Amino acid sequence: MKSFKTIPHIFLTRTLPEAVMKKLNRHFDLHVHGFDRPISRRQLLRGIRSADGIISMLSDQIDREVIATAPRLKIIANYAVGYNNIDLKAAAERNISVTNTPGVLTETTADLAFSLLMAVARRIPEADRLVRSGAWRGWAPTELLGRDIYGKTLGIVGMGRIGQAMARRAAGFSMKVMYTQRHRLSVKEEKSFRAEYLTLARLLRTSDYVSLHLPLTDASRHLIDEKALRRMKTGAFLINTARGPIVDETALVQALRENQIAGAGLDVFEEEPRLTPRLRQINEVVMAPHIGSASTDTRVRMGLIVLENLKAVFSKKSPPNRIW
Ligand code: GLV
Ligand code: GLV
Repeated sequence: MKSFKTIPHIFLTRTLPEAVMKKLNRHFDLHVHGFDRPISRRQLLRGIRSADGIISMLSDQIDREVIATAPRLKIIANYAVGYNNIDLKAAAERNISVTNTPGVLTETTADLAFSLLMAVARRIPEADRLVRSGAWRGWAPTELLGRDIYGKTLGIVGMGRIGQAMARRAAGFSMKVMYTQRHRLSVKEEKSFRAEYLTLARLLRTSDYVSLHLPLTDASRHLIDEKALRRMKTGAFLINTARGPIVDETALVQALRENQIAGAGLDVFEEEPRLTPRLRQINEVVMAPHIGSASTDTRVRMGLIVLENLKAVFSKKSPPNRIW
């Protein structure tokens, strides 16, 4: 089954779903970091040393030093759509391909973003805790009152694939959709999403829900800072399923504590898995442990994309999802 002249040595930093492991093993000399927990820097440096390719997680920092440790490296296949964990310049200098897994996780991630939006608006985790605690005394006219979603305004920051998938979900709830990003969509696209283009400042001022769907770059780091949070309506919610450092988490904690905004739904954090002090004490926050793409089907599909990219590089073809 192995179709390459010599079987490439692939270092995998974390165990992937069974169906993916089987296929990877069939095609490659696969070396897997032995324990199903995040790899340490030392283990990463050791593991990559004799590798022809690495399958990295978004939590692995593939920086210049790591890349320099691997003289044979031909590809860094990131098991994620985001790739802010990789030093693209250092990879490019060595002509090492860098690939990601776009497309397959779009709907799954938008599902989670919308789930967080609904969960925080309708206070579902608080409601669950009440019922579970045994303290519930029966139906009450003023208990756990949340906010409506239907008919409200959703502001999407970053109208790429996931942002657009979010807009489609919002249409089902008769939401008014605004978006902002560097490049405006065509009039036809705007019509199809029934989305209105605004500057970030105006979007923040008018949205009941602000949902982030942009990559982490130097330009987007702390895009949602103290000033941006102050622009938001007092009844508004912030949803982040993109990358933690896009939001200044300290400023967010402050804004929530001072009731400057109504709440937040967070799947990503500035320094995962660490939380900014006091974030966990705030009731108006719903948190998930970076599970945007975590459905069984999607995690398998992401693995198959990684496999296709590896196969391409070792057959001397251009990998389908090359970032660089
Ligand atoms: C998840 O955060 C991803 O980038 O795939
Ligand atoms: C992810 O697939 C995106 O580009 O939004």
